[in-house]
Amino acid sequence: MNLIMKMLAAPATVLALWAVSAQAATNDEIAKRLEPVGQVCVQGQECKGMEVAVAAGGGGAAKTPDDVIAKHCNACHGTGLLGAPKIGDTAAWKDRADHQGGLDGLLAKAITGLNAMPPKGTCADCSDDDLKGAIKKMSGL
Ligand code: HEC
Repeated sequence: MNLIMKMLAAPATVLALWAVSAQAATNDEIAKRLEPVGQVCVQGQECKGMEVAVAAGGGGAAKTPDDVIAKHCNACHGTGLLGAPKIGDTAAWKDRADHQGGLDGLLAKAITGLNAMPPKGTCADCSDDDLKGAIKKMSGL
């Protein structure tokens, strides 16, 4: 290697190392910024205290129907607040399902919202599958 090549190669190595560490710092910062919102879950890796993240439609970690219901749906559907069909009142849910063309029809209404029923039942980060699981569980259909 001639002198000029050596002179060029050294800074290039330093630059490359710097670029790698700058990238790492950036990722750390991003992870930190995300922390207050929720855990950082990487697909294919186990999340502490959570199910393994699956790329289920709407993104984010998979939620169990019980989680979704307890956190978001129970407030109204537990007691029938504002005329919400009650959890476990299968007849009331079936009546609605018949009007909406089955479970998928109910899901569509749950996503858009219906009168006092807020869009996605306030679970903004729920995937369609998350919502459907909650509806199935609440309705027993
Ligand atoms: C703020 C109260 C509230 C919350 C929270 C809520 N709902 Fe509802 N939901 C309602 C009310 C009220 C209705 C009845 C709306 C109507 O028929 O006018 C309803 C109706 C529904 C229906 C039937 C729609 C139809 O076509 O008849 C589904 C499905 C549903 N909710 C799913 C959910 C799910 C899933 C969650 C939780 C992720 C949830 N809801 C959270 C109030 C709520």
